[in-house]
Amino acid sequence: MGKFKPYILVIFLSLIINLTPMMAQEIILIKTKNTTLALQVNTSNELSTIYFGASLDNDNEYGFIPPEYSQGTDYSGVYNATYTSSGSKNLLEPAIAVTHADGNTSLDLHYVSKTITSIGEGITQTDILLRDPVYPFEVHLFYVTYFENDIIEQWTTIKHSEKGEVILNKFSSANLYLKGSKEYWLNQYHGDWAQEMQSEETRLTHGIKVLDSKLGTRANLFQPPVFMVSLETPATENEGFVLFAGLEWSGNFRTDLELDPLNNLRIISGINNDASNYRLAKNVIFKTPKFWFTLSSQGKGFASRNLHNWATKYKILDGEGSRYTLLNNWESTYFDFDEAKLKDLIVDSRRLGVDLFLLDDGWFGNDYPRNNDDAALGDWDVNKKKLPNGIATLVETATNNNVGFGIWIEPEMVSPESNLYQKHPDWVIKQPDREEHYFRNQLVLDLSNPKVQDFVYGVVDDLFIENPDLAYIKWDCNAVIYNSYSKHLGANQSHLYIDYVNGLYKVLERVRAKYPKTPMMLCAGGGGRVDYAVLKYFTEFWPSDNTDPIERIFMQWEYSYFYPAIATVNHVTNWGKQPIKFKTDVAMMGKLGFDIVVEDLNEEDLEFCQNAIKNYSALSNSILHGALYRLQSPLKNDVASLIFVNKNGNEAVMFNYLVNNRYGSGSRNPIIIKGLDKDAHYLVEEINVYPNKEPVVISKAYSGDFLMKIGINPHVNLNNTSVVLKLTRI
Ligand code: GLA
Repeated sequence: MGKFKPYILVIFLSLIINLTPMMAQEIILIKTKNTTLALQVNTSNELSTIYFGASLDNDNEYGFIPPEYSQGTDYSGVYNATYTSSGSKNLLEPAIAVTHADGNTSLDLHYVSKTITSIGEGITQTDILLRDPVYPFEVHLFYVTYFENDIIEQWTTIKHSEKGEVILNKFSSANLYLKGSKEYWLNQYHGDWAQEMQSEETRLTHGIKVLDSKLGTRANLFQPPVFMVSLETPATENEGFVLFAGLEWSGNFRTDLELDPLNNLRIISGINNDASNYRLAKNVIFKTPKFWFTLSSQGKGFASRNLHNWATKYKILDGEGSRYTLLNNWESTYFDFDEAKLKDLIVDSRRLGVDLFLLDDGWFGNDYPRNNDDAALGDWDVNKKKLPNGIATLVETATNNNVGFGIWIEPEMVSPESNLYQKHPDWVIKQPDREEHYFRNQLVLDLSNPKVQDFVYGVVDDLFIENPDLAYIKWDCNAVIYNSYSKHLGANQSHLYIDYVNGLYKVLERVRAKYPKTPMMLCAGGGGRVDYAVLKYFTEFWPSDNTDPIERIFMQWEYSYFYPAIATVNHVTNWGKQPIKFKTDVAMMGKLGFDIVVEDLNEEDLEFCQNAIKNYSALSNSILHGALYRLQSPLKNDVASLIFVNKNGNEAVMFNYLVNNRYGSGSRNPIIIKGLDKDAHYLVEEINVYPNKEPVVISKAYSGDFLMKIGINPHVNLNNTSVVLKLTRI
């Protein structure tokens, strides 16, 4: 307590008592269509979570939940505090830990009040104020419910009025309790470059399992911030209780999953506090990022459809709009191109039938030309040797060919071989007295510095000012943060990881304020950065540089649990030895693009691609906005199968892919379809049939009832490795 004056304590306590005279045993319900999170205020004004699960029919019965259901006999209030603090009664992993201005490390948060506000149709915000009875320190817990989508977002704001700075040692966004289950099964992801979204499902044992990232920028490279937890047994596509969750933060994150001695699962998620103690000045509000979650009692498919509906409506830029198909030049030229070559590729884009040509890396740098990945990042002037007439002439050629023009940038980065590095070494994240350590031969600019934010914003703004018809941007981010140190932050080095991300958001806010609509692809050396905070500024993300279609089936499958097809960019490239039909059919289950040498395609391959692009455009409403039903997983079957059913149920597209090359592999049995109207009839037709080949599935009408009970065999086998079916209600 140190310098804390007793009379302040008296005033403070009486304030709380006055504010909360009738609050004891109050129950606060955070409700969505199917689930309820029930919080309870006890007689000591402690706020605890007494229930999270399928909603009860009668709200008044939450009060009947017996105390022993929520509390350990000797540990009243310990295990299920709604936002666990450190240094008082809680002895398990805290959601928040602080060092007060006087050096004391104890925090106890008591309920003060709540406000419930409607903030949109079916969207309600609950704001719960907690305060320490001893220190002038308070936390607001925010819950936003999206009723129809069964999604809850949770975050906090933290503030104090102590004499001096308080150090936030841990500052999580959310603290959930799952209880009453004998077993908890965690489905988590890990990866590396070209191996993103590798799935693992294991039973949680007692103790703490941590999912985290400490990479700074390209934070998802080893582990993304999304996960699932099944109750009792691993949920399947259509059955079981399962929680899907993730943090809306584009930097270091940390999720603790602690199975406590009473078999309650405590999930604590927020910004990673590693090397990030935050010095909070008096009366300044510290806001934690949002943590989203959804609980499904009908398996993973239901959870992911809810998530997709929510994401497209509220979280992804232009999530309910359309998307451009495109031809990218990265794999066909790498850094080796000139104006003539690019103009040919633009003409090829038109020939292929895509909407846009995307110029990738290598177009900039003069003193240090970008002919490889070891120079020029930061020097965003057009390379005069390769493009003597600038970008404008390429945009013009694109316009004349009736295709849009897009361009690649990586504005957060700097190459040591660049004018920018020489001019502004203080803008670079690097230790002053240590040897530089590079990731892909480059370093990260210090976005905590407002001058650097101006510079990065200027890279985008200048491109638009010089090329007002620019139709698309690919924003890349290839390096992680090594040797974390900011010249700008001085004594506040532990703020860097947090201030970097907030600096990035500030830049993106400015970009979107001036250029609200231009589609932008989020890329981070493959799928190194994607979450529901950054997708507010981007229309789509690049899941992986690995575009081998077999690998992509698995990756796209896993990503599809968390991100809708409209946001997931899939390109047909030279990776993999499979025929172009297989590659295209795989890329069509999301946002379709190409990165091939069109000129090298034989006549039939070209004709196939042209037709497939036409089919895709005609069906994009179903694929990009339809409800996704996963029918057969690639993990357990020879054939992976999924179907997108459009919103009014009139049309569906079913993709079927062979994922096993062994003798006799294929779809021996019909695949049962989901999501149709059993009383309707559907014409089933094969599309994307290769030129001069017969369809393997004969066009025929079936009832929805038949298709959902007996199913249809797509006849996928070693000769027909992918089959795409279109279903039209007749
Ligand atoms: C990253 C991206 C690629 C490509 C290259 C260019 O690796 O993931 O798609 O843009 O950078 O250098």
